[in-house]
Amino acid sequence: MELLTTSARDLDRAAEAIRAGLLVAIPTETVYGLGADAWNRVALARVFEAKRRPSFDPLIVHVAEPGGAAEVADLSVPYARVLSERFWPGPLTMVLPKRDRVPDLATSGLPTVAVRCPANTFARQIIRRSGVPVAAPSANPFGYLSPTRAEHVVAQLGDRVDFIVDGGRCPVGVESTVLDLSSDPPLVLRPGGLPVELLADIIHGLAVYDRATTSPTAPGQLPSHYAPARPLYLVASGGLPGAVPGGTAAALCFGVESTRAALRSGRWAKVVDLSPNRDPVQAAAALFDILHELDAALFDELWAERLPDLGLGLAVNDRLYKASVK
Ligand code: TXA
Ligand code: MG
Repeated sequence: MELLTTSARDLDRAAEAIRAGLLVAIPTETVYGLGADAWNRVALARVFEAKRRPSFDPLIVHVAEPGGAAEVADLSVPYARVLSERFWPGPLTMVLPKRDRVPDLATSGLPTVAVRCPANTFARQIIRRSGVPVAAPSANPFGYLSPTRAEHVVAQLGDRVDFIVDGGRCPVGVESTVLDLSSDPPLVLRPGGLPVELLADIIHGLAVYDRATTSPTAPGQLPSHYAPARPLYLVASGGLPGAVPGGTAAALCFGVESTRAALRSGRWAKVVDLSPNRDPVQAAAALFDILHELDAALFDELWAERLPDLGLGLAVNDRLYKASVK
């Protein structure tokens, strides 16, 4: 593996590598992606192998320009064009009828393809210079935390990728919102970096997948997807216990009030505040970074309180739920 910068020369090298069928980890505004030429079946197979990802879990295809999506998907379905104009480049992935040319490996044999135009300028330059759409799942081994820094990718997948482009920290911090426009009404499959409320303003009768009442249809909905190595207990807002049943534990708080209470109790080996003034955008930006850090430290347990289910709070709660002990 070779680490690349975001210099014009290195972005060119990253693009060349993708064109040559190699694996390149690229920064996006959400999380780092493990990029490969979406037209190249061998490169796609290498993505699944590197991640140890089951082949039934399809990839997101990334394009440099909103208009480039038409090459991989049919945007004539209701809302597709309007949403692409409104929210791309950005943290929205749309599931759309696929073009015949998209390899089955990218879509796990589904008739639909997930497409996204990321907002990160380095990602867009790499895709543009490569001249191909870039399939990129999050650059973590299957079932582990998504990477929000190049160092996370180095640590998790360093020996299984060809290049890692270090574009610094991912500002959004949680993966894109996945919206299935092939179903009627449209269905949010995964809450993410784009608040669901913004979609609901535009889409009449928008449905949101609820993991409490529905069985998984997309593999990303499998609850174990974001498991950290330590057990994580998720409790109601303000519901962190004053005492922990033995061992050392870290508390993940949302807001100064819970943080003060946790510090006052004196029972926690570490107390972290996701956002002192209870801003879910800030909490999302910090979430994976903090989970990576807490996971590397040797606490016996992690405890986290839920955020209100508003804005990016929905995405943060979803990731915490997936990381938690049921
Ligand atoms: O922000 C993101 O979305 C990041 C960056 C790199 O773009 N990518 C990412 O990819 O999170 P990944 O592979 O970790 O998650 C993609 C999700 C999975 O839950 C997958 O099941 C779903 O999208 N997906 C992909 N294609 C689909 C399809 N045709 N139908 C339904 N779900 C699909
Ligand atoms: Mg992922």
